[in-house]
This record gives sequence, structure tokens and C-alpha cells, in this order.
Amino acid sequence: MKTLRTSAALFAASFTLLTSGALAATPAKLEIDLARPGHAIPSSFYGLMTEEINYSYDGGLFAELVRNRTFQDAPTGAPKPVLGVLPPHWSVVGSAQAGTNKIDPVNDALPINLRLTLSGGTGGVANNGYWGIPVKPSTQYTATFYARGNDMFTGSVTASLLTDSGDKTVAKAESEPLTGVWKKYTLTFTTPADAPTTADARFVLSASGKGSIDFSFVSLFPPTYQNTPNGLRPDLMKLMADMRPAFIRLPGGNYLEGNRFADRFAWKKMIGPADQRPGHAGCWSYRSSDGFGLPEYLLWCKQLGAEPVLALFAGYTLNGDYVAAGSPEMDLYTKEALEEIEYVMGAADSEWGKRRAADGFAEPFALKYVEIGNEDFFDRSGSYEGRFAQMAKAIRQKYPQLKIISTTPVTSYKPDLVDDHIYASDQAMLRQWDRYDVGSTNPEGRKADGVKVFMGEWATQGGSPTPNLASALADAVFVMGLERNSDDVVMQCYAPLFANVSQEDPAKGNPRGWQWPTNLIGYNALGAFGSPSYHVLALFGQNRGDVTLPTTFDVPQVAKPIEANPHGLIGVGTYGTRVEYADLVVTGKDGAKLSSGNLIKETAKWQFPNGKWSAEDGVLRPVGNNPQTWALAGDPTWTNYTVTLRARKISGNEGFIVLWHAADGDNYRWWNIGGWGNSVSRCEVSENGGREPYGPSAPFTVETGRWYDLKLEVNGSTARGFIDGKLVMEATDAQHQPAAAAFASASYINASGELIVKVVNTSGKPLDVAIQLKGAHQFGTGKAIVLAGSPAAVNSIEQPNNVAPKEEPLTNAAASFTRTFPAHSVTLLRFPAKK
Ligand code: AHR
Repeated sequence: MKTLRTSAALFAASFTLLTSGALAATPAKLEIDLARPGHAIPSSFYGLMTEEINYSYDGGLFAELVRNRTFQDAPTGAPKPVLGVLPPHWSVVGSAQAGTNKIDPVNDALPINLRLTLSGGTGGVANNGYWGIPVKPSTQYTATFYARGNDMFTGSVTASLLTDSGDKTVAKAESEPLTGVWKKYTLTFTTPADAPTTADARFVLSASGKGSIDFSFVSLFPPTYQNTPNGLRPDLMKLMADMRPAFIRLPGGNYLEGNRFADRFAWKKMIGPADQRPGHAGCWSYRSSDGFGLPEYLLWCKQLGAEPVLALFAGYTLNGDYVAAGSPEMDLYTKEALEEIEYVMGAADSEWGKRRAADGFAEPFALKYVEIGNEDFFDRSGSYEGRFAQMAKAIRQKYPQLKIISTTPVTSYKPDLVDDHIYASDQAMLRQWDRYDVGSTNPEGRKADGVKVFMGEWATQGGSPTPNLASALADAVFVMGLERNSDDVVMQCYAPLFANVSQEDPAKGNPRGWQWPTNLIGYNALGAFGSPSYHVLALFGQNRGDVTLPTTFDVPQVAKPIEANPHGLIGVGTYGTRVEYADLVVTGKDGAKLSSGNLIKETAKWQFPNGKWSAEDGVLRPVGNNPQTWALAGDPTWTNYTVTLRARKISGNEGFIVLWHAADGDNYRWWNIGGWGNSVSRCEVSENGGREPYGPSAPFTVETGRWYDLKLEVNGSTARGFIDGKLVMEATDAQHQPAAAAFASASYINASGELIVKVVNTSGKPLDVAIQLKGAHQFGTGKAIVLAGSPAAVNSIEQPNNVAPKEEPLTNAAASFTRTFPAHSVTLLRFPAKK
């Protein structure tokens, strides 16, 4: 039998392609050598990556229930808040009127008040929360708000929870009488034991009588993790605690950079009392209240026992703006970075350490790693070399003990680590198994200058809003590959961590909760769940070895059929950008028109797999600010064709997208023009939602407001793209070696003398494996934990444990034993094995 041999030391020998039937006539063979331990696995290896995306904090981890609590959110489509009317997510109940004003606000950070006007009856203002206010039985809520009585109003305010159906009051509390000056009120109330469990509810501030009341900074908290005021959601904290993260990479991600300088992570505006933080425009299509600011990140680290890995704003924003090294702006950002470090790790009597202590953390945090910027490979100006060197030198001078991470390889000044990122399809992720192996030919592997790697963002893209089992298997293989190479890849974290999985609800002013397609942990107002990939990472995080062990795995390989006759729909798309497409004509190979004129006018032929589009006067545009959406049309049997169209960018960070050979919203090829922050033209292929770039990349920036003539020629597996008559892209589908059917790695826990074996079977057949353990005697009973199911299986709010690990005793461990690994499974074996 020809097999694929995988080993930490030796990779790739030979293989058998299996397309059907039993996986192999003879069992696969896994050898583990306990007598030759490899390198130590750093205790820092498993971590979390976070940013404000997919309503991660507001509407997520930050337990605040009131949405738009400072009335500063703009109505959909408006550039700024509108005065005199009800702000988004607020409504009137009972007999009253309400609208915003800017009269003598509480402070500069809270410039807008919400005025409730009463004319003798009872009425109030109601907030509908983040896709609803969660009501649960026997639960205590804490409401706080500023209020001021006007026009002779001296009555009290009632804070209550009201269900949507029947306007039923579930629980309430009443304030003392108001006065004519601003005062902060805190009320608590507890729902009765027979209260319903529902998110179809509102939080209401109401009053009776005549006059008016101004409200500011209206807040409502349910119980929080470890009962911390202004704290974090217990269900999400419990899920993360079970992952045992060593660190949290914060605060981003794109969120660190912001779309513009004004929207960067300006940490000084995100410390101190929450009612003194103004909030800012986030980069993922919604405003951030900044109730979750730098102190809350630190609270999160403290409560999970994780160290912060602090990413520092470094003078580059998502729209491509940058400042030069040595400029006054870069000097300021460098100074702010040093001060931010002092806020986190400085003594409680240092200038910024004092501020941290005032925010509730007298003890300095054990900061060991700082990262300068985020994804600065997008900065095509070359300014990162200088920006990085300036900031790194200043940090090293003041804090020589800190390890410094660059976001792309640099030559100007040596970093301690470089942050690598990868998002790809399951097949592409499986091909990364040996990425960091010594001697690997992967160009993204170990760095020539010996700089260590921080894999700061990675994830298999498949399943949305959370990964399916096929992605989880590839994620397991990928992270096993990293762990085998953790002498080089010393830390890693999956991204994004969170997604609010609530669906769009225009009637309540709610967009879809998530912007990124595939995310580790999902939740809505009432509950949370871990995806299959979450379970893999929690399983691995809970069962960590101290050292790697050499393994050799002779295993069959699974053939992936090569598409003989590529075909499919055409389409257009957008990625966080407002665009317009017009005059779209599709012509067959022989010049025959496949569309009768402008295909956009044939509205019935279009489908919109994610997000809404409008087609008026023959111009196709996405509706609203949906960050990723595409529109497909034509005939799925179309093979070779030419698509011509005109395209114009209205606003946003990227450019145009033209699709071909599309089967649905998850499987397609596309030409991304002005992708990667409006910097390049390149093709990408998506398999089951996982996108992978291929073919050459050419610099290209789309200008806003200008119409471009685009032409895409598709011939078999080759595509050519022209912009204004000039050839810009030519790419042929990559033909890859099929991935192995199964992967294995092993490690050892020195203190307990236990062996940990991880095996992933990606194939659709059970895999019999003969396991041989060298250098060990005396084996004990252990456990086998198995995650298995159908590749498309996902977890959800309704079925949180559809794919979940199952544990069973492992009783037959010996120097030589066999085990069958189920189809589509991840298995972790842990058992005593004395050396
Ligand atoms: O994880 C989602 C985004 O992917 C991050 O914000 C960014 O750093 C990367 O492009």
C-alpha cells in the first residue's frame, strides 16, 4: 500500500489516492516515540483574539442591555444623530412624547439628552436592546440613568421591564422624586420566579403627571460574571474560561486602526468612568459605545487569568492613510503607546498606573508582549519600516523586558516575533499542516531571520455565522501543525472570537448581527453556544502537553476530484464598500449574447445569497452598509464567457468584485479589484465559504466616483480581467495535491506522566489505526474524547450541542494497540504512559 507519511521531523513520503469504498485494506500505522521528546510547548501557546466586530462587546461580552444608551447612534443611512426626534432603538410607550435635545447636557461626553414630555397621563421611553432585552425569571437587574425634571416636573421615574406581547410589566422599581438638576439614579428590581424567558421585551423609563424629563446615559445590567459592576456576560466568560486561554490579543484587528485617524482605538478616551467616554465610530458598520474600553479588556484578562497581548495603534488606518516616521503625529502615537503600556503594567504610583488604579486595578498587569499596528502589509507605501522602527526603539528603551511583535516582516529593526494571519478554505488549511515544519517549502513558513511567529489570526472559513464540522476538522489539523512547531510559532489565536448571531429585523431597526462570515462563539440576547471549532480549541486547551513527541503516520490519502468542466453563474459583489454596477452584458464563446442586453434589467434572473440589492434604471447597488454581499445571475451551466460591465465606487474601503463559475453564495471564483484595503487586484476561490487567493496579485486602487469599464474573459479554468481596456489580471485555477485523509500529533505531560494523542480523520470512512508507542512501558486507563458528525453540521442557539465532544474510557492502551477513528472526527486520547 502506498501511503502518506506525516511526521514532525519528516514529512511526505508516498500516498495512495482513494476515491471510494473502504478507506484502506490494511490499518494505517501511527508511531509515537516517547523516548525522544521534542521541544517544549510554550505555556503561552493557546490564546484568544478579540476586537469590536459582530457586536462582540456592545450586544455581546459587555453585559449592558440598553442599546444607544447615550442617544449618539445615527439613524440608518444618516451620517450623524438627528435632534428633536426619537433616537434609534428608542420608542414611546403610553401617553407621552419624546425627542432628543442638546440643552445643558451632563458633560461633554454625553452631549445628547432624551426628553420625555408628559401632559397629565402616564408615559415613558422604551429601549429595545440588542435584538431584544433578555428577561429571565428570578433575575436581578440594575438600572442607572441621569435624569432632570423640567417644566415643574417633580415626580418619580419608574424603571421596568415590559414584554412586547401584551405590554406586560415583568418587574419594576421607582426612583425618588426628581429635581431640576441632573442626578444619577440607581434602581434594582428582580423578576419573579414565574417570569417568562424571552427577549421580546423592552426596558422602560416612565412617569406620570405634567412637565418633562431629560434623560442621559441610560443603562441596565443583568447579573455579570463574578458580580462585577459594569461587567461581562457570564455565559460567554464561562465558555472562554473553559478554553483556558493564556493571553488575549487586544484590541484588534481592524478595530485598532479604525477607518480613519479619528476612529482609531484612542485608548485615552476609553478609560475612566463610563459616563465620561464619548464613544466612537467602529470599523465594522456600527458605533462603539466604548462602555467596553481598556479597563474592561483588563477586567476580562484578570477574570480569565490571561495576559494581555497589547496591540498599539501605529499610524496607519484602514482607508490607507498613514503618517511618516519622525512626523509630529508619529511622535504623538509613539508617546501614547508608551503611556498605554504604563497604564497596563506601570506601578500604581506612576502617572498612568495611577489612572489604572483609579479604574479599579491597583496591581499592574503582567504584560510581556506588545504588537505594533495591525496587518501593515496592507500599507503599500512602505511606511511601516519607519513607523515600526520608531515605536519599537522607544519601547525597547523604556521597557527592555517586553517582546515586540511586528505585523509583517521588517528589516529596519528586528522584532522578537512577527504576526502571521490566515483565513482559508478547509482544503487550503489542511495544506498548511507542514507550513512551519523545518525544511517546509511553504514560503509563509519559518522566517529566514529566525524571528519567531505569533499566529495572531487564523480560521478555516466554512459555515456561517459559526464554523461547521468540516472547518473544525481543518482547524484542528492546522492548530496541531502549529503546536508541533511551537518552538517557532510560540502563540496562536483563532479569529474572530465572537458573533452575535441575531438575524436582521428591520421592524426593530436591527441589522444582521455579524459582519464576518465565520466566527468561533455565537450568541443572541438570551443564550450562547460554542461552534465545533470552539470545542476543538477548548479540548486542546484543556489537555496540553509539556513537550511534543515525534510521530510518524502512514495514512491513506483522499482524492479530491479535479473539476473537468468548470461552469456556473456570473455575479458582482462588494466588500465593505458602496458600489454601483451598470451595462452588464454576458457573451458566449462564439460571440453569441447569453444575456439579452443589460442583464441587470432582467431582475428575475438575479439572486442575492446574502444581503439586499436594488436594481433601478439598469443600475445594481447593494442596499445599506452590508459589509460583504454579492449578487448572482445567469445560468449555472454557462462555461466559457465574457462579462462586460461598468462599475463605480461611491464610498468605503475597497473596490469592485466580479464573480464567475459561481454555484451559490459559498462557492465561486471572484476577481477582487481594489481588495485588501483597495490596494490590489487578485483572484480568489471560495469553497464552502472558505476563500483563498490564487494567481498573481497586481497593485490596483479604485478611485471613488469614477466609472470604470470592466471586462472578464473566462476560458475553462483561466480568467483574464481588463480595466478600461488594459489587461490587469490573468489567473488559472491552482491544482493542488489532495490532502491526507488523516493527521496525528502527540505530546507528553511530564508531571503526570500522561501521553496525549490527537488524531483527525477528515475522510468519510472510519479509519483503523495500529498505534505503536516506543520508549514507554506501563500504561494506564485513560480517556478518549471524540468530536464527530457530518461535515456540514453546525451548532446554533437552538441546538448548542449538535456537535459536541463525547468522552469514553480508554482501556486498551499498550505499547501496541489499535483504534478506529470515526469518519469526520477529531479524537484526543489521554492516558498514563510511563517512560
Ligand atoms: O478577524 C477579522 C479581521 O481580519 C481583522 O479585523 C483583521 O485584522 C483581519 O483582516
